[in-house]
Amino acid sequence: MKILVTGGTGYIGSHTVVELQTQGHDVVILDNLSNSDMKVLDRLEAITGVRAVFYNADIRDKKTLDDIFEKEDIDAVIHFAGLKAVGESVQKPLMYYENNIGGTINLLNSMSEHGCKNIIFSSSATVYGTPAFVPITEECPKGTCTNPYGWTKSMIEQILTDTCFADKEWNVVLLRYFNPIGAHESGTIGENPNGIPNNLMPYVTQVAVGRLKELGIFGDDYDTPDGTGVRDYIHVVDLADGHVKALKKLEPGSGLSIYNLGTGQGYSVLDIVRNFEEATGVKIPYVIKERRAGDIAECYADSSKAFRELGWKAKKGIKEMCADSWRWQKNNPNGYAD
Ligand code: NAD
Ligand code: UD1
Repeated sequence: MKILVTGGTGYIGSHTVVELQTQGHDVVILDNLSNSDMKVLDRLEAITGVRAVFYNADIRDKKTLDDIFEKEDIDAVIHFAGLKAVGESVQKPLMYYENNIGGTINLLNSMSEHGCKNIIFSSSATVYGTPAFVPITEECPKGTCTNPYGWTKSMIEQILTDTCFADKEWNVVLLRYFNPIGAHESGTIGENPNGIPNNLMPYVTQVAVGRLKELGIFGDDYDTPDGTGVRDYIHVVDLADGHVKALKKLEPGSGLSIYNLGTGQGYSVLDIVRNFEEATGVKIPYVIKERRAGDIAECYADSSKAFRELGWKAKKGIKEMCADSWRWQKNNPNGYAD
């Protein structure tokens, strides 16, 4: 298939491009490089041996989207493009709604006008809010998000659901990611956050490489086995493979499909520190801090639906996730910057 990957030079997008190309698909990348680097294209080519077609373009620019759909005969879109910094979304909600929701509506209009009605969307476990139960199945009701970023995911899910209901030619897959970490085994592509990382693993790797002094653990008094927050960490390469497997749910008549992509295994913050230290031999100094606003105690997936319907299952364990995150950071202490 010929796949347009929006946000394809970003963290999850770049890993998905590798899996798509190695599994025989044609890839066209669209990204405005607001949170990624052109160098990713060379690194992707070095891994797969194929240079992806690239458009430096913004999903809010309808005219350019139309030109791309006219020029390229796209079968399906995997839609990663979006802003994702939770704290920034609280400060600048309109920027988030405009970029993520406005951009997605533009994209859907352009797709529809060019007869491409197949899309896989990057959603998040954040749509469950404080989950009604764990492990979380897809039947778990959506909840109240704690920030505008989360609401953009929840609202885009609704927009796609309504679009699919109104026009039976649409096939939509909503993939709800748990906590992606890790990097390609080559150590040449990986997560490259701007500024001080918000998420746990990039914080840990930046402590390990000496860019940050120590990890702050946000709360040790949750109702979890060791008191620290529990999450379902998933290797980004497994996540990428989930997208390729999900393509089969874009066959005519498939309609709307929703899948959790996680491992089903919860790890606490202290588990992550311990596993990272064991996998890499690098010590992570930490201090216990106050709970972070908006955090929940535990969140992990029941991903059995993805196994039943897509034949997808996460294969990589926590040690591999830690070792691969570390290889990327160690080889690229400043990310893609020279
Ligand atoms: P990322 O920031 O590395 O990648 C997103 C890419 O989209 C970037 O390359 C950025 O330049 C591009 N982009 C942003 N706005 C754009 C626009 N208007 N037009 C064109 N390109 C634009 O983030 P990621 O971690 O790879 O996440 C990919 C997607 O998955 C996002 O939609 C994110 O919300 C979602 N997601 C991520 C996580 C996570 O933990 N990383 C979890 C759940 C969902
Ligand atoms: C966060 C976002 C979520 C987003 C996801 C992926 C919040 C409230 N939620 O999820 O919307 O989809 O990232 O981008 O921001 N931790 C520390 N110290 C740190 C960083 C994290 O102790 O420096 C802890 C957290 O309290 C949590 C766990 O590590 O228990 C994981 O945190 P994080 O990586 O930020 O992911 P989530 O909170 O699950």
